[in-house]
Amino acid sequence: MSATIISGNLIASKFREELKQRVKLLSETWMQPGLAVILVGDNPASCVYVRNKAKTCDELGIHSEVFNLPGDTSQKALLRQIQDLNANPEIHGILVQLPLPDHIRIDEVIAAIATEKDVDGFHPCNVGALATGHALFHPCTPLGVMKMLSEHAIPLQGQHAVVVGRSNIVGKPMALMLLEKGATVTICTSRTRDLASHTLSADIVVMATGKSNLLTADMIKPGATVIDVGINRLPDGRLCGDVEFTGVKEKAGYITPVPGGVGPMTIVMLMNNTIEAAERAKAAAQAVAGCGSMQ
Ligand code: GUN
Repeated sequence: MSATIISGNLIASKFREELKQRVKLLSETWMQPGLAVILVGDNPASCVYVRNKAKTCDELGIHSEVFNLPGDTSQKALLRQIQDLNANPEIHGILVQLPLPDHIRIDEVIAAIATEKDVDGFHPCNVGALATGHALFHPCTPLGVMKMLSEHAIPLQGQHAVVVGRSNIVGKPMALMLLEKGATVTICTSRTRDLASHTLSADIVVMATGKSNLLTADMIKPGATVIDVGINRLPDGRLCGDVEFTGVKEKAGYITPVPGGVGPMTIVMLMNNTIEAAERAKAAAQAVAGCGSMQ
């Protein structure tokens, strides 16, 4: 039997309605949530992602500021820009679009973002907090995957999850988030010897390698949940994921498509994190005001 398709488009569009309500409440009772996005250089894919982020902010009523900095921007100038945004009360979330040009020290840049505005969840303090189960922000793509799994009530406790990919953006946080929910997690990479020996015992497989068609039907057990985070461009221009979709969907229980799967979830989770940052800033402001009135 063919797998149930987990539609990111559908889940994201339903979630957007919930987000709009939260933005409306904040805007009416306090202030508009604000997101700043910094893009250094003109990487074509990054330009598209940044445009989509600003557009989604507009659609939800979130204030957004995009900083298109030239590719030869110095480390110092970039850090100064981040410090300005850290101090700006109208900005609740800061995102520096990755990748950055080679001359920029990325770790230093990410560490410069105020932790309470780190809506990507990439700051070393947030990464450490995620490892201990107390993250302020969860990275957007794995958070989107968790939402897709929960929307379909896919059990995680005691289940074997195999994450293929070890990036800081997806693979590592994904593994930690599944572990936090009680899954037994194996982390593999595209170079894992005999990858199928791991994926064949998985109840859930998350593919995040950037290698098209790496996971084929003979590598999964019947009924498994298959999440495809990959977005790869084929020589003919079409988009595909890391999963050989046509074959795998006939054997899996649940599967995400590419496009229309994880992609739309990432952006709504960024909006969620930005709204959450604003909600926390509001609560903090009110706590301070409350202290003042008690004096
Ligand atoms: N580049 C690709 N994905 C991401 C992401 O989730 N956040 C940022 N900042 N850059 C990215």
